[in-house]
Amino acid sequence: MAEKEIVETSEAEIAVHWGEEKFYHPSVKFIAQANMTDPAVYERFSLDNFPNCFKEYADLLDWYEYWDEILDTSDAPCWKWFKGGKINASYNCVDRHLAKNKNKTAIHFVSEPEDEKVEHITYQELFVRVNEFAALLQDFAGLKAGDRVTLHMPMIAELPITMLACARLGVIHSEVFGGFSGRACADRIVDSGSNVLITADAYYRAGKLLNHKQNADIAVDLAEKDGQKVDKVLVWQRYPGKVSSETPMVEGRDYFVNDVLKDYYGQRVDPVPMPAEAPLFLMYTSGTTGKPKGCQHGTGGYLAYVAGTSKYVQDIHPEDVYWCMADIGWITGHSYIVYGPLSLCASTVVFEGVPNYPDPGRPWRIAQNLDVNIFHTAPTAIRALRKIGPDEPAKYNYHFKHMTTVGEPIEPEVWKWYYEVVGKGEAAIVDTWWQTETGGFLCSTIPAITPMKPGSAGPGVPGIHAIIYDDEGNVIPSGAGKAGNICIQNPWPGGFQTIWGDRDRFVETYYARYCKDPKSKDWRDWPYMTGDAAVESEDGYYRILGRIDDVINVSGHRLGTKEIESAALVVEEVAEAAVVPVAHDIKGKEPDLYIALKPGLEASDELAQKISDTVCVEIGKIAKPRKVWIVTDMPKTRSGKIMRRVLGAISNDKDVGDVTTLANPEIVEEITKMAKK
Ligand code: WT7
Repeated sequence: MAEKEIVETSEAEIAVHWGEEKFYHPSVKFIAQANMTDPAVYERFSLDNFPNCFKEYADLLDWYEYWDEILDTSDAPCWKWFKGGKINASYNCVDRHLAKNKNKTAIHFVSEPEDEKVEHITYQELFVRVNEFAALLQDFAGLKAGDRVTLHMPMIAELPITMLACARLGVIHSEVFGGFSGRACADRIVDSGSNVLITADAYYRAGKLLNHKQNADIAVDLAEKDGQKVDKVLVWQRYPGKVSSETPMVEGRDYFVNDVLKDYYGQRVDPVPMPAEAPLFLMYTSGTTGKPKGCQHGTGGYLAYVAGTSKYVQDIHPEDVYWCMADIGWITGHSYIVYGPLSLCASTVVFEGVPNYPDPGRPWRIAQNLDVNIFHTAPTAIRALRKIGPDEPAKYNYHFKHMTTVGEPIEPEVWKWYYEVVGKGEAAIVDTWWQTETGGFLCSTIPAITPMKPGSAGPGVPGIHAIIYDDEGNVIPSGAGKAGNICIQNPWPGGFQTIWGDRDRFVETYYARYCKDPKSKDWRDWPYMTGDAAVESEDGYYRILGRIDDVINVSGHRLGTKEIESAALVVEEVAEAAVVPVAHDIKGKEPDLYIALKPGLEASDELAQKISDTVCVEIGKIAKPRKVWIVTDMPKTRSGKIMRRVLGAISNDKDVGDVTTLANPEIVEEITKMAKK
């Protein structure tokens, strides 16, 4: 693979050249209303109090049977949390709120077309819809606890309804991001062994009603070729009662949910009390190599962890209107659109569209009209909105008390724009570092307790004890100015249980490297390896530099791509930056710097020079880019991450490989032509 050839993976130690940013403090007003203001929480969740500290999170939930063993390590490193407990996730996210809050909005569904009314689904209505669909899944689709079902659904209210209906029955849902292809869906159907596929006929994206049903046909055909037969395809209609896709229904296999559902009106299904360690869902994640891994998340531990972190890190109260702009097809949406906020009885926003359509004021109109007070998004969206609509937030009357950034390191310049312009200087920001595998946050500040530092995730959240190892397994201490492999010393309830059907790969990928004794049943011998490079400053804040594989070695100096990118962002005109290593006879590698400018600005040699000079000033001559390429757009994945692999292939004159799954494949050719000149 091209990627393997251009990256350095041999050592983990990186000299860090970044200067430290100053602290920002939350307002007195924020602190006065915050859920967690007691600094002793860090002591309560110290390693000395592990694992019993996590009782505090389990007690946020309702249990049918209380657990008798908090952490069972007998099958290390497949940890079992809250053993002996019985619980149902659907009950905790829906039923238990009815007594006091049945009339409160659970889900605000915002269609992309702005002339369509927002759908406000109350907890009572959610209860009814989840029950009816659970009855259908049970009787019509024949699903029962432990079965897997693949969902390939877009951002519509029926997606959380479907997930909660599965959870009600103990059926393991495996949602595939709606933007993925039929092929990607097929691979996940096969791996999970699903014989039911739940999809939708159509959805809106950037002004177009896309035919989504066609992917189901491809997925089912390809899955069958690979040995997994799908008996039933359940199709939600974007407009109930109306057909919005040209792709025909296959007789005896495909069913419109809205037709079948009529037989289940008024039905109720008792939530199935599930063992705490029963799997709740699978979420596939791709590594740099190999087939996607089905991260298996459990019920009790996962739900306790997302409830606890939603309450204390996201500061969610029942009266809050919370909007996470991620897609439910990613772990962020599972944990922090669906399970976390609903377990706390908040109102959660499900937005169908993209942030910059029809114009970059759209998110702020939604925030204004729903009076959203907690906002959650990723650096890629923040950069895009900063690039195309820097003055938009000021035009709208919304006020956030709290904002999250997640998904990749945020450049301090972008952080400051988020704080000052989007947050209007009023909102506390948390930079939450975590992974699909980890279920919930690993490092972040607690907004009313630990101050913010732009570009730094912060310390481990309560109960997460991070540690940085060099390649030999020596600990790199805080303040050493060196980065290494960031690992977590202890298990936590949100961590995935295994890779579906591949325990060996689970152990090998995440534990083998730093395991102290493979036979040990003691959790202390099994640090979890995240695969990220990080540096810990003297004050215990962790700055994540990206995947350990994304490190560039220039003449023996190891540079994090993110630090060079952050330096480039210091230049006013720069909207996005991506660094890739280029092979060099003498230096080993040199950085190539790709730049996208703010709109209306022209590329020029002077500007390229200015960016190059700034990198040298901010980091040092060692980081001087071989070349600054000013491009019209970056190649991006559907989730908005810049595809450095593709840029790396272009810079190194290698085959770019398959780019059809990118959000904007056409840009690849344009950049290739430019780089060849
Ligand atoms: C990788 C995980 C976290 C859920 C969504 C992405 C990077 C994630 C941050 C952050 C720096 C971050 C890491 C991590 N990452 N959040 N706040 N700061 N880097 O989940 O697709 O599993 O990706 O995203 O490299 O390992 P994912």
